[in-house]
Amino acid sequence: MSGTCVIGLQWGDEAKGKLVDLLTEQHEIVVRYQGGANAGHTVVIGPDTYKLSLIPSGILTPGVQCVVTGGVVINPPSLLNELDGLTARGIQIDDNLMLSDRAHVIFPWHMIEDRTLDESTADGENIGTTQRGIGPCYRDKVGRSYALRLGDLLRPTLRERIEYIVAAKQKILATFDNQTEDSLDADRIVQEYTGYADRLRPFIGNTNNFLLDAVELDKHILFEGAQGALLDIDHGTFPFVTSSNSSGVGVPSGSGIPGSYMQRVIGVVKAYTTRVGGGPFPSEQDNDHGQHLRDRGNEYGTVTGRPRRCGWFDAVAARYTTRLSGVTEVAVMLLDVLSELKEIKICVGYEIEGQRTESFPSHVDDLRQVKPIFEALPGWQTDICDVRRLEDLPVHARNYLDRISMYIRRPITYVSVGPERSQTIQCRQEPVNCELA
Ligand code: GDP
Ligand code: IMO
Ligand code: MG
Repeated sequence: MSGTCVIGLQWGDEAKGKLVDLLTEQHEIVVRYQGGANAGHTVVIGPDTYKLSLIPSGILTPGVQCVVTGGVVINPPSLLNELDGLTARGIQIDDNLMLSDRAHVIFPWHMIEDRTLDESTADGENIGTTQRGIGPCYRDKVGRSYALRLGDLLRPTLRERIEYIVAAKQKILATFDNQTEDSLDADRIVQEYTGYADRLRPFIGNTNNFLLDAVELDKHILFEGAQGALLDIDHGTFPFVTSSNSSGVGVPSGSGIPGSYMQRVIGVVKAYTTRVGGGPFPSEQDNDHGQHLRDRGNEYGTVTGRPRRCGWFDAVAARYTTRLSGVTEVAVMLLDVLSELKEIKICVGYEIEGQRTESFPSHVDDLRQVKPIFEALPGWQTDICDVRRLEDLPVHARNYLDRISMYIRRPITYVSVGPERSQTIQCRQEPVNCELA
């Protein structure tokens, strides 16, 4: 039993890509199991920066098998663009990439729906989706009637299925936006997707059986989460979430591998918090502190380029997602971004209607109302980008990590002090203390 999962514990962009790249050498298989091209995972190796979206970050390590399972939604042109981009940069992609025939396919109507139907919630606040057709594709998956999977692209019934769906979608879309009606041309879509199918055919297979066999052979499998647990469709800050189970609970359902196989669950957090898109964010700093974090952390979305909202580390939220995801250890990323600050805050509790709580509310209206309770800690005001051992960190940086570990009650086993692969402190032998003070 040797499955390792990497799960974001905040609202995404916790630097999961960097950690997955780092862990890949200890694994034979790397799996993406939920989400789609809404994800943007950055890996920096020496002078080279790679931005991965649908293809597992493990693809950058030769000899590693990468698998995209049935829980992922795939937009074929995005995938092919990514594949061509990586190949052009000398990354070999052939039988080291396998795509599930069960993965649902994003079509042009999903992109239109994301723009026209899904942008705002009932109370008018925008979800601010990545506009990649993710929500509409998952909606059709659950609805079943208008869904097509990668395996369907290879079947002789493809034209018939597309014509049926286009006719229905035209009617639905016409009631929302008359302009889009004409842009769905079944013939053109059949031709386009037949072309994609021809290119993708060699990669498509039964990933469930492949992975179940791998488990029996005791292969080391690394599961690469996308988004973050607070964006989980069932357990996140609904409706300001993505449309898949992006917390740890999504690993078995998305991959088809039983949860009992997951031995190590590494929760990934930034040393502060960011969020892209709408929705409440109790520890947000819409002020000079937030701008400082955005500037130092280069907090602009990997996928859409949008400025990320920035705030202090929220220990209430992180403790909730740590427990939700079955996290066994934590990686704290982007610690260097805090290096210039004189004082650093951690949100250690919420006040709701005059009452203090450490429990994360389930309703978005309650979360909107919470007043964050902060603990202030002294900053270290020293550059830490070249530190490689825990004991070489300034004492205030170690204290800050100790506090995080204490609040979320898990050991910290990795600390990242810069985007590059080598700018990492591994503290597995001597984890930061997580005992309650
Ligand atoms: P992901 O979606 O979780 O993989 O994260 P993103 O790639 O969207 O965002 C993380 C960003 O932080 C990327 O630009 C990384 O190159 C960068 N990054 C990763 N680790 C560190 C770090 O320790 N320090 C700094 N300054 N940047 C980092
Ligand atoms: P990675 O894997 C940060 C956010 C969007 C929006 C909400 C719904 O790079 O961490 P969607 O397009 O999924 O329907 O958008 O979710 N979102 C992300 N935010 N990182 C991501 O992925 C995200 N994927 C989706 O900004 O608020
Ligand atoms: Mg990202």
